[in-house]
Amino acid sequence: MTNREIHITYQEYKSVEEMNPEDRELAAEAVKAMQGAYAPYSHFHVGAAVRMSNGQIVRGANQENAAFPSGLCAERTAMFSASARYPDKDMLGIAIAGGVMGRLAKEPVTPCGACRQVMAQYQAKSGKPMSVIMMSADRILKFEKVDDILPLIFNSI
Ligand code: THU
Repeated sequence: MTNREIHITYQEYKSVEEMNPEDRELAAEAVKAMQGAYAPYSHFHVGAAVRMSNGQIVRGANQENAAFPSGLCAERTAMFSASARYPDKDMLGIAIAGGVMGRLAKEPVTPCGACRQVMAQYQAKSGKPMSVIMMSADRILKFEKVDDILPLIFNSI
């Protein structure tokens, strides 16, 4: 038996002003995307913005439904929309923002497992790292690739 470790590095910013212009733009788009949330049950509004390799940014927001599992997170709404609009382009990064009733949360909104798996798939499809930015009012986290938030990604088929 061998004990092994997995190390994850990420960047933490105190404000968007510390970020490079491209990331700052994507972060701002995620905040704007929160306005598209339809969350009559949780009242938690989440926005996501995906940067494509052609320079386009595609937004998404969470969509809830009375039949709860029929709803969808902001991240998957954005990624599926991005893939449907630009099927032959790569997703280079995604930013996520959220909070109750549209006010940015104090702690970064971290994507659910299902959304991480979908990120992993599009990253594998493009063969390029897809960065992940998680926003909050007090601090912002940036991960350079999906592997950093989903170690041991399933890619066996
Ligand atoms: N939600 C997202 O859209 N993304 C996340 O990363 C976490 C959760 C949504 C799903 C649901 O509409 C609401 O937030 C509360 O869970």
